Amino acid sequence: MNLEISQLSLTGACKAKSDGLIILVPEGAKLGQDALSLLIKQATSTHDLQTKAGHVLAAYRLKGVATTKIWLVGAGQGTASHVKSAMAAVMPIVKSLEIKNLTVACPFELEVAAIFAFVNAVADGSYAYTSTLSKPKPRQLKMVQLGVVNCNAALQKAFKMAQATVMGVEVAKEWANRPANHATPTALGVAAQKLTHGAKFSCQVLGPKEVEKLGMGSFMAVAKGSREPLRFIVMRYQGAAKSVAPVVLVGKGITFDTGGISIKPAPEMDEMKFDMSGAASVLGVFKSLSLLTPAVNVVGLIPACENMPDGLAVKPGDVVTSMSGQTIEILNTDAEGRLVLCDALTYAERFKPAAVIDIATLTGACVIALGGVRSGLFASDDNLAQSLYEAGELAQDLCWRMPLDDAYAEGLKSHFADVANVAGRAGGAISAAKFLQRFAKAFPWAHLDIAGTAWKSGASKGATGRPVGLLLQYVLSQVKDEKKPPTLSTRRRIV
Ligand code: BES
Ligand code: MN
Ligand code: ZN
Repeated sequence: MNLEISQLSLTGACKAKSDGLIILVPEGAKLGQDALSLLIKQATSTHDLQTKAGHVLAAYRLKGVATTKIWLVGAGQGTASHVKSAMAAVMPIVKSLEIKNLTVACPFELEVAAIFAFVNAVADGSYAYTSTLSKPKPRQLKMVQLGVVNCNAALQKAFKMAQATVMGVEVAKEWANRPANHATPTALGVAAQKLTHGAKFSCQVLGPKEVEKLGMGSFMAVAKGSREPLRFIVMRYQGAAKSVAPVVLVGKGITFDTGGISIKPAPEMDEMKFDMSGAASVLGVFKSLSLLTPAVNVVGLIPACENMPDGLAVKPGDVVTSMSGQTIEILNTDAEGRLVLCDALTYAERFKPAAVIDIATLTGACVIALGGVRSGLFASDDNLAQSLYEAGELAQDLCWRMPLDDAYAEGLKSHFADVANVAGRAGGAISAAKFLQRFAKAFPWAHLDIAGTAWKSGASKGATGRPVGLLLQYVLSQVKDEKKPPTLSTRRRIV
């Protein structure tokens, strides 16, 4: 899909020739005397068009307008989230009519965050999964022209970044959507190797023998019940001097989570193929890095395996020794994410990182707490928390900070090991984070629980590619040169 941004007034939009024309109409739109302006004036005065974000009014063969299919879409105050709702409302129509060439006119000043919202909504609304279909129907939308009234350098730069972001988002979606018999740990390793071909990249894929040598007893315990061999994937992107401390991204790569011996109930168990969404987001970020080549250093770590019940599987009550030396009593084999992540966090120490961020579909409790709107953000460092929060706002890939009081770790006490892998049901997302924090003392650390945000269930079942946008914005904000990426126009402090 080709995306372009250009200067375009409503008069210009009247002349644009494409298969479909969308006009985003904000409150108090500045209108002229052209055919589209007159239509908007009329339709708003009769209330047939509301400027509420996402309200759609279709028009056809309007005199004085070159494109035959026209949609007026309310864009509220024209903010990023309103642009997102507006495009999300109209894209299903664009998709169902198989529009190939689309023009979208924004006759109001757009902010940088709205550019991200726009590009992401267009990509999301036209995405088509193809991997395992015998007669795949690829994306129909081939060309999108975004017309704005303030086409300045900052918007153009943001538009380029947003395009690279959605390329990464789509890599993440694609891998997360693939079923577990296609997206095996081995397949993820091969994908990482392919993605990191190039001058600034390197990739190492470790197997069971190497992982055993490293002493990753906790990770190995999870993989024990599966016939699929585990993989530990180490990706490196070096865009800055070697001396610059890297950002390390750790993605949970459970390619299928049955729960193991603490087996999950059957309904919706298929959705546990998405339990490698954290890993997929790391792959996605590396895809975007390959397109943007920013001056930063990034390490991606993916512990990948299946969580299966088996005669050889780890059992409730088993005690294992993690790479850190801490022993863990595995009271529930379904709390496996933290068991693979803790060894990856210990491994991260060797990079002397500036920050470590783990990304995981870790707890059902986080879905209860925050739903599908914001990912759970936990951090041992206030600056890191603030930067991640702001990156999320800018990319319209939202998160919300959660607490890490030590009192939440009480339930993790064990009589038979240094720590248990589960506490009670109450505050489950937080006690999971407290478990991880024990292994993340050597660096500024943050944890994103994406259990509610990584995929959608029901009729629109599928991966969202989150939080690639957030992570990429954070990584780009760490570029230490004068050409800083665009920042938020309104800053809100949360810490
Ligand atoms: N992958 C799941 C978390 C999950 C569940 C994500 C549902 C999205 C939807 C994770 O491995 C898990 O099973 N967590 C348990 C932890 C519990 C045993 C302490 C959970 O949340 O139930
Ligand atoms: Mn589980
Ligand atoms: Zn899991």
